[in-house]
Parts: sequence; structure tokens; C-alpha cells
Amino acid sequence: MAETINTLSVITIVISGLVLLLGVYLIKSGRREAHMKAMLTASTLATIFLVLYLTRLGLGYEKKYIGPNKGAYLLLLVSHIILAAANLPLALLALWNAWKGYLASGRNLGNIDAPAARPFFARHRLWVKWTVPVWLYVAVTGWIIYLLLHNYGEVTRGG
Ligand code: HEM
Repeated sequence: MAETINTLSVITIVISGLVLLLGVYLIKSGRREAHMKAMLTASTLATIFLVLYLTRLGLGYEKKYIGPNKGAYLLLLVSHIILAAANLPLALLALWNAWKGYLASGRNLGNIDAPAARPFFARHRLWVKWTVPVWLYVAVTGWIIYLLLHNYGEVTRGG
């Protein structure tokens, strides 16, 4: 049961990373409505990931790494955990500013330079410079850690 939740959680975070990349591609090609939909989908997937992850923690499931290069593994794990925690406020700030801007534009993304909307989108562009790389790092390292534990992990609790 916990193992299945673990697998599902890593699938959701990896897909959220892919949809995030799609969202970046869409905005770079000027498709703002599609960008918004992609980013809301990526955020929903990341929320599902968080719920699954917390459920797994609640079940007390733990795996210990028993493979080579333990130091490198720990570095990967610690950086992953710190950036995963940072990703939540970063994503909320990106979404909050985009949403406020969207409302201020009269729900018309052709109107993002309207005086009421412009500052929100300026902040949105500023925050996403951090949110996108952090989110991608967390998704990619989450996948790597999952694979490493799959090959070199030993269940220590809740298996
Ligand atoms: C309600 C959801 C969202 C809406 C309505 C929205 C809308 C926008 C708009 C209007 C722009 C500016 C486009 C332009 O200058 O032509 C933009 C840029 C961008 N947004 Fe979003 N966005 C949303 C969510 C997100 C999220 C969650 C992320 C990533 C975490 C994100 C990442 C980006 C990126 C990377 C850019 C391009 C920045 C640049 O290169 O200047 N967006 N978004």
C-alpha cells in the first residue's frame, strides 16, 4: 500500500515537471491562455503529489539507502528536501500574482499591460525565474531518488 502511494507520488511530481515545461514553452510562443491552463494543471498535480507524500509519511513508510557513494546520495536528498520545501511558497507566489493580474486584466490575457494588471505580471515574471528551475530540480531529483531507493533501498519502517 505505502509502496504504491510512493510510486504514484513520484509519477505525479514527474508529470507535473513535464507539464511545467510545456507551460514554459507555451508562454514563450505567446499562448497565454494555454499557458495558464498548463500551469494550473501542473499546480494541481503538485498538490496531489503533496497529499500522497504526506499520506505516505503518515503511514510511517521509510527506506534507507544502502548503495555506494552515500555522501553524494545524502547531498542529493538534502538539496531535494530543502528545495521541495522552498517550492511551495515560490509556486504560491507565482500563482497568486498571476491570478491577481488575471483578475485585474478583466480575465482577459490580451490585456496584461493594463495599469492595474501590469505590476502583478511584472512580479509574476520575477518570481517564476526562481520557481521554474526549483520546481524542475525537485521533480528530476525526486525521480532519481526514487530510482536509487528502488535499486539500493531497504525498507526500515512501514513496509
Ligand atoms: C493562473 C496561472 C497563470 C497565469 C494566468 C499566468 C500568466 C502569465 C502571463 C500573462 C505571463 C506574461 C506573458 C507575456 O509577457 O506575454 C506569464 C509569464 C510566465 N509565466 Fe505564467 N501564468 C500562470 C502561472 C504560472 C506558473 C505557476 C508558472 C511557473 C511556476 C508560470 C511561469 C511563467 C513563465 C516562465 C513566464 C515567462 C516569463 C518570462 O520569460 O518573462 N506561470 N504568465
